[in-house]
Amino acid sequence: MDSSSLTLTRPDDWHLHLRDDAALQHTVPNAARQFGRGIVMPNLATPVATTAQALSYRERILAQRPAQSSWQPLMTLYLTDNTSAAELKTAKDSGLIHGIKYYPAGATTNSDAGVTKLEGVYHLLEQLQSLGLPLLVHGEVTDSDVDIFDREAVFIDRHLAPLARTFPELAVVMEHITTREGADFVRESPAHIAATITPQHLLYNRNHLLVGGIRPHLYCLPILKRDIHQQALLQVATSGNPSFFLGTDSAPHPRTSKESACGCAGCYSHHAAMELYAEAFEREGALDKLEGFASHHGADFYGLPYNDSTITLVRESWQAPHSIAFGDTELSPLAAGDTLQWKMLEGQSLETP
Ligand code: DOR
Ligand code: ZN
Repeated sequence: MDSSSLTLTRPDDWHLHLRDDAALQHTVPNAARQFGRGIVMPNLATPVATTAQALSYRERILAQRPAQSSWQPLMTLYLTDNTSAAELKTAKDSGLIHGIKYYPAGATTNSDAGVTKLEGVYHLLEQLQSLGLPLLVHGEVTDSDVDIFDREAVFIDRHLAPLARTFPELAVVMEHITTREGADFVRESPAHIAATITPQHLLYNRNHLLVGGIRPHLYCLPILKRDIHQQALLQVATSGNPSFFLGTDSAPHPRTSKESACGCAGCYSHHAAMELYAEAFEREGALDKLEGFASHHGADFYGLPYNDSTITLVRESWQAPHSIAFGDTELSPLAAGDTLQWKMLEGQSLETP
């Protein structure tokens, strides 16, 4: 491999948040700049809980896609206590819904309408298993007596392991894993149980969040863990194991909502997603594993073809922007102001305010 440039099959983002309305004019072009497709999370202020809602959201998204782009939004539905088995069949039959997102009620941004008890929707998981529609899991318990740093590991023991035993053929993506326990669980599971990994969980640990002052722009959920977990994530992401693939969890919030006495959770990374992953993979001496992770493994899991175009990253020092336009306001992106070592060639330029 030429050490000054890296050409990859165009990657996909298997977990992102675009928001709605005015935000889409920025989030959609930014997503389409590097990626071929994106699994669009359904946690809008009014959850995307029906196929009809997802299809109309998809139209609003496509209306903001740049003219020359063939980027595709892959839609998801938000699972609630009231979702019907018939709705899941409608979703599958549409051919445009690629996964059903499980949020434990109260776990994160716009999750109040989430499922109150996972075991209470087992009849719906039965339906997903027979339809062959993946369950996308936010894997944290919400019990107030469980420490925030333990919530993923406890979720695996109490809920995910039993679920995997009960539904031995259900396709599951454990979204944005953050722990050694998450990495081990997926590594030891059959191929239909996979995980996405974000750039922030590869590049940072909780010291980056908390030592020397609280950095609200590194606050996301599940929260950054201690460095042994970061190391475990780096190990599996760069291992070539097809059960691990790229999902940025790029989650925009206005700067004012994050720089606040009660800052909200989410890191925005679509200004430099591939550059940030390249940074992490290079530190591990594993740039040769980036294409599998970013461009192949997720497509294989979802049964979709690889993208037929490529992107090229070149070795070039540049400074990530301090601010990105976001609807009628702006936000502070991940690694704002930091010097990055890789840069994607050309493409549409980013709009900075
Ligand atoms: O940090 C997060 N932000 N985690 C999530 O699960 C949701 C996301 C958001 O929507 O802002
Ligand atoms: Zn997310």
